[in-house]
Amino acid sequence: MRRPIVAGNWKMHGSRAENAELIENLLSHCPENLRAACVVCPPFVYLQEAARLLRGSPFLLGGQDVCAESHGAFTGEVSASMLKDVGCEYVIAGHSERRLLYRESDQLVARKVHAAHGKGLQPILCVGEQLADRDAGRTHDVVARQLDAVLELCGTAFLEQGAVAYEPVWAIGTGRNATPEQAQDVHAFIRTRIAARDARIAAATRILYGGSVKAGNAAELFAMADVDGGLIGGASLKADEFLTILAAADKCG
Ligand code: PGA
Repeated sequence: MRRPIVAGNWKMHGSRAENAELIENLLSHCPENLRAACVVCPPFVYLQEAARLLRGSPFLLGGQDVCAESHGAFTGEVSASMLKDVGCEYVIAGHSERRLLYRESDQLVARKVHAAHGKGLQPILCVGEQLADRDAGRTHDVVARQLDAVLELCGTAFLEQGAVAYEPVWAIGTGRNATPEQAQDVHAFIRTRIAARDARIAAATRILYGGSVKAGNAAELFAMADVDGGLIGGASLKADEFLTILAAADKCG
């Protein structure tokens, strides 16, 4: 049975004081013996402090992005080994905000996954179509293109511990989540695509759904056969919402 993952993507939110309060609320109300892996992804500058506050807890730490290069003259970038060094175990790669706002190509995302996996970080590879793609019936084509670029460079080994997050762009931060059936359709497509390369790894791959997951819709999304948890934006900034989502993921699979 696949162990679900719930990852909170804090994006560019928070402050030292707000993060400390959020983490304290998460830790004081977190149920014991969670089956799901729970990950929080604060902005880079807060990672080290978050690592300190989360030490000894079930929460794991992730970066929101990673540089494809290992070190050198890349002003403003953060490498995979640096993320490891401050206590990260996971890293998000290819979030749609990076792809769209910072023009990250499929090939660059693939190199980021490669760099992360090479340093022992578990990548959470984001894929997902824009509304125009969905309306034109191109959802599977877009997801296949984004996925294949990574599988071609990296193979499938990174999926043993890492994850794919299906995040339809039109559902991110909009309050309009994909229906459980829409999510399941794309998740099954992703799993089949991975299975064409390695059936064993495909069966083990965690495929997370992201895009307006809330306490109120998490259970029905996570009940779908190929939904193995979620990548949570806005709702991960509220401890009670995030913990309810975590509890829902704990029951899935
Ligand atoms: P959202 O964001 O939950 O606020 O829609 C999800 C994400 O961007 O990962």
